[in-house]
Amino acid sequence: MAQLVPDVLLLIFTELKDDPVSLRSCLLVNKEWFNIATPILWRHISYAYDNPFLYNPESRSKLYNVIAHFLPNDPVDPLPQNNIILPLNKLSRMPTFDYMRFFIRITPFWIIDMAHLLIKNHKNHSHKKQILEREIYKLIFSKCINVKHFSWKVEKNFCEYPNAQSFFSNLHSLEINWKFITNQNFSDLSKICLNISKLEISNCGRDKDKKSLIKFIKNQNKLQSLFLDFNNNVKDTCTLLSNVIREKGSTLKNITLQPTLNCVSPIFIQSLENILEITLNNKLNKYIDWQEWEKCLNNIKKFPHLTRLQTSCLPFNIESLIIEKSGGKILEIDSRQSLKFLDYTTENKNLIITISKNCPLLTRLTIDVDNKNLDELSMMFSNCKQLEEIYFTTPVIVLPTGNKLLKVINNSPLNKLRNISFSDKWNFSIEGVENFLKDWKSKNRLPIKFTPHYHSERNFYWTAEHDRLVERYRY
Ligand SMILES: *[C@@H]1O[C@H](CO)[C@@H](O)[C@H](O)[C@H]1NC(C)=O
Ligand SMILES: *[C@@H]1O[C@H](CO)[C@@H](O)[C@H](O)[C@H]1NC(C)=O
Ligand SMILES: *[C@@H]1O[C@H](CO)[C@@H](O)[C@H](O)[C@H]1NC(C)=O
Ligand SMILES: *[C@@H]1O[C@H](CO)[C@@H](O)[C@H](O)[C@H]1NC(C)=O
Ligand SMILES: *[C@@H]1O[C@H](CO)[C@@H](O)[C@H](O)[C@H]1NC(C)=O
Ligand SMILES: *[C@@H]1O[C@H](CO)[C@@H](O)[C@H](O)[C@H]1NC(C)=O
Repeated sequence: MAQLVPDVLLLIFTELKDDPVSLRSCLLVNKEWFNIATPILWRHISYAYDNPFLYNPESRSKLYNVIAHFLPNDPVDPLPQNNIILPLNKLSRMPTFDYMRFFIRITPFWIIDMAHLLIKNHKNHSHKKQILEREIYKLIFSKCINVKHFSWKVEKNFCEYPNAQSFFSNLHSLEINWKFITNQNFSDLSKICLNISKLEISNCGRDKDKKSLIKFIKNQNKLQSLFLDFNNNVKDTCTLLSNVIREKGSTLKNITLQPTLNCVSPIFIQSLENILEITLNNKLNKYIDWQEWEKCLNNIKKFPHLTRLQTSCLPFNIESLIIEKSGGKILEIDSRQSLKFLDYTTENKNLIITISKNCPLLTRLTIDVDNKNLDELSMMFSNCKQLEEIYFTTPVIVLPTGNKLLKVINNSPLNKLRNISFSDKWNFSIEGVENFLKDWKSKNRLPIKFTPHYHSERNFYWTAEHDRLVERYRY
């Protein structure tokens, strides 16, 4: 039994992984607890310090002071050479653990913050900050051997740092702001990082050719998640990029393209046979050849595993085509500001019908609905019985009221529904809302949260009286 104890402790501490205060008290119990809880606490820190500013300067300084104990500090090293004397408060003895080994993610904000907090009282501080940041990164590249995620969002030539090669070759997840990396550095990186499963590039395409990105993607063996955020001055469709995404498409589980789709041709979509999540944001709404999208989508057999679809500013028929090609496993649809070609009501009706035929497991839904398509909505509620959360938007003001829709919802078999929200263009009368809430409650259904003005500061039709009503029926 005795040797079970560490495993049990590990299980318990893992439960506490997001509760650093409790973990810290566990550290103090005895040596064994300390040994088991310490790595978990540092793992937590390495996530939590994605945003160090959630913590007060005293806590941050304490953490940075511990890390400073690991910085090279021989008289010949850059810190002493530049009169940077760290740590500010020496611990009574060196830390027992090589804490740097427990980091699993590195994002730049704590490093900038650490250099700032430890140097801010120095005279020539901007120069010294640079030196200290460089020393921190050198420490990371040599000692943080378990890091799997790195965020390249500062202008530094990391490729030239000692140990960068082995550090980057270990990564599984990489986030790059294109603004801060040169083509040459990206190209070098593409030879080192071969096992990236999650790649996120922002500001993609800004003033640079995409050859290095294409090469980078091409070299990946295990790419599962691809996030490309294009810069808004990208003008041309890049066929090579589309081709390389198609080449890697069969391993992809998650793809996000934003905020425009004009940079890629839809040919890539045909290879996404294992995709779970698709996000297509076309907010910039530039010219897109939708017929080509239609053609490519028509050529697909299926997206058999698709569970989540998020779109903005896509035509209704493109959204419908994607949903039609899904394998009945969609859990969430978030479609905003759909585009129409000719007739809004008809095209909207077709989307609602497509959802009701293809998404029996749907639990969360955000869509534009036309108040005239009540029959189709009623059919959708009968088919999508798992719905828990609905957010209905609408591009046109609903006049005079949306009360009929509330009746349709109430008469539906939506026993799992617990949250409905409406954008500000919906107008509900006091009686309509009261009847809805009263009926809902009398049927002993789950308590429902009714949010009339989600995402907008002001709703023209929603009054304080409506608010009091909703409050009265809260249970
Ligand atoms: C101050 O910083 C500059 C670079 O900004 C550097 O060239 C100079 O040597 C520094 N002076 C001292 C006294 O460290
Ligand atoms: C990538 O992963 C494979 C195993 O899946 C491994 O053999 C290879 O060494 C890894 N490459 C690098 C550069 O880490
Ligand atoms: C990275 O980019 C910088 C800036 O252009 C360049 O000076 C440096 O040589 C590049 N490093 C490598 C390893 O390509
Ligand atoms: C898929 O990618 C999107 C965008 O990066 C992200 O919000 C979402 O959490 C990812 N899904 C999974 C399962 O990782
Ligand atoms: C209700 O749905 C809205 C919109 O989807 C969401 O923002 C909100 O968090 C949900 N509220 C609850 C209590 O689930
Ligand atoms: C909004 O609904 C109310 C009923 O609650 C109705 O009297 C009013 O005319 C409607 N507003 C408009 C602009 O149609």
